[in-house]
Parts: sequence; structure tokens; C-alpha cells
Amino acid sequence: MNKEYTSPLTDHPFEKAFEGLADDLSEKGYGTIEHFLSHAEFMQIKEVADNHKEEGNFKKAGIGTAQDFQIDKQIRGDYIRWIDPAKAAAATQLYVNRMRELLQYINRTCFLSLKDVELHYTMYPVGTVYQRHLDQFRHDDHRRLSVICYLNKDWKPEHGGQLRLYIPQEDGGEKTVDILPSGGKLACFRSDLIEHEVLPATRERYSLTGWMLDQYIDLTFL
Ligand code: OGA
Ligand code: MN
Repeated sequence: MNKEYTSPLTDHPFEKAFEGLADDLSEKGYGTIEHFLSHAEFMQIKEVADNHKEEGNFKKAGIGTAQDFQIDKQIRGDYIRWIDPAKAAAATQLYVNRMRELLQYINRTCFLSLKDVELHYTMYPVGTVYQRHLDQFRHDDHRRLSVICYLNKDWKPEHGGQLRLYIPQEDGGEKTVDILPSGGKLACFRSDLIEHEVLPATRERYSLTGWMLDQYIDLTFL
């Protein structure tokens, strides 16, 4: 294990941000970190994703139920490429390491026993969406927290593409929270509780989409 992961988090550069997110997760089930990656860091990862796209390494994401491609595309329009952290570009490994530090912080402060992360590069073509859904869709699902980091430079509200969270309220109703997919921002929420959707955008929308799991992952499918 990388010694960074076990280093004490006092004086850790992200301590305040991690603490804020852990509090938000405990209280509300979701939270964000505005600058989880610096501009230079997310732009390097975007370049890696761009290269994969040019080489045809992205594949249409499926939803596992619809056989019909057209139906599938209406529900979910994104293209993805799974990441093997051990073989990933240095810029992406930096992100995975930071995500693992966050995992350890959450384990310590929220008394969870998260074990591993899985993630992929994601690209939504202009106008595509991911309709309202829950990330934990099977009973045997090990996804506990959904963790998305955006790679979009100069994203403005008029570009659309918000991540819309549906937050259950105590009175039985719900409220919505919209998160703009601005470069470097991290969005994190409970995979078992929070339904969400991706709204259509006027620009291609890039992200690193991942999950924190309560068991170790087998990457042999990659
Ligand atoms: C997903 C998802 C949200 C986003 O890939 O399951 O909901 O903001 N992504 O990209
Ligand atoms: Mn989702």
C-alpha cells in the first residue's frame, strides 16, 4: 500500500474539504468538494480521456435491461471506458490515490468499512442524458458511495448538463439539488438512497465516474 494512504490527515491539504464532505454525507447523504482537482490536474486527465476517445476506446454504456439500443440510448446516452488504476496514466492515478485517501478518511470519520474503488471515464455527447435512476440497482450491489469528478473547463449554467439529485425529505416529499459539472469538482452521494439524473448539455460532458465499494474489486474483466 502506498504510504500516502496511511499518513495522518492532520495537516493534510484536503483535511478541511474531506471533513466538510464527511459531515455532509452523514447529515444529508450527499456533498461536493469544489476543487478536488486543480485546473492543471483535471486538464491532464481530460487529455488522457480525449486520447482514449480518439483511439476509439470508449464504448456505449448499457443499462443492463433494455435489449433495444434506441430505448437504451434514450435512458442513458453516455460512453465509458473502465479504468484499471494500476495501468492508468499518471494523472489518473493521482486522482485514484486522492479518492482512496478520501475513502480512508470517510471510513475513519463515518465508521464505514469501504474497501475499494471502481471508476471509468465518461463522456456524454451533446444533448444526451441519463434518466433518473439509483446506482445501486441489484441486491448484491457493493456500491455504497457514488463519486464523480468533472473534467469540463469553463462550464457555465447555460451549458446545462447538471447532475440533479432527488433528496428524500422527512415529510415524505423530496427536493432537488442541481450540481454543475465544472472541472475539478467532486460530487459524492449515497448510492443506495439518492436517485439522480444527468440533464442534457450543449457541450460534450466529461467526468470520472466511480464508486466506493464495501468489498474488494476483481478487475479481471478489463
Ligand atoms: C452515473 C451517473 C452522474 C454524472 O454514471 O451513474 O449518474 O453527473 N452519473 O455524471
Ligand atoms: Mn448514476
